[in-house]
Amino acid sequence: MFDTMTVTKAGGALCGALLIFLLGKWAAESLYHTGAEGGHGGEEMAQAYTIDTGASEGGEEAVAEGPTFEELFASADAAAGEKVFGKCKACHKVDGSNGTGPHLDGVVGRAVGTVAGFGYSDAMAGHGGNWEPAALDEFLANPKGDVPGTKMSFAGLPKAQDRANLIAYLQTLGG
Ligand code: HEC
Repeated sequence: MFDTMTVTKAGGALCGALLIFLLGKWAAESLYHTGAEGGHGGEEMAQAYTIDTGASEGGEEAVAEGPTFEELFASADAAAGEKVFGKCKACHKVDGSNGTGPHLDGVVGRAVGTVAGFGYSDAMAGHGGNWEPAALDEFLANPKGDVPGTKMSFAGLPKAQDRANLIAYLQTLGG
């Protein structure tokens, strides 16, 4: 009834149809994932857009302003701060004895420049006030800028998160 050619043609047509069907299905799925996921798709598209363009502005602003010290300090990680303290250890001890710098146990809340037996610079000795967390934050960001004339030879900790963590660590040390 069917000759070989007819069967071959029918088979070919069937394969072609199947291929087109699969391609169509694949295309539909890709569309579905990128655009057509209803509310979700919309959000994703919006986010992708923001990351590419809008958010870069927002991101820069966020970096420029940053979270406040209080915000960082509220969630600070004292264990991470102990590692940051590695940068201070060469000069500061936390066992009550002075080194190149005054001991720092109990420094949070301590009156500035008042460790007995330590020879402070005039700038530090005459500074006044207490080492409240926010004051430490400013000092550690830029020691020589915050206390001009200090003899603490340390460039400062540029990262706000490092300072907050370090101060949280210092706060765990008794005085
Ligand atoms: C190179 C040595 C050196 C390093 C490193 C150093 N300091 Fe100091 N620090 C000093 C000296 C010296 C003073 C006394 C400054 C003065 O009298 O002007 C001081 C003073 C201080 C004070 C004031 C203490 C007081 O009794 O009023 C604090 C707080 C302080 N340092 C914290 C730190 C922290 C935190 C770090 C690490 C991030 C650090 N320092 C790194 C040498 C150092």
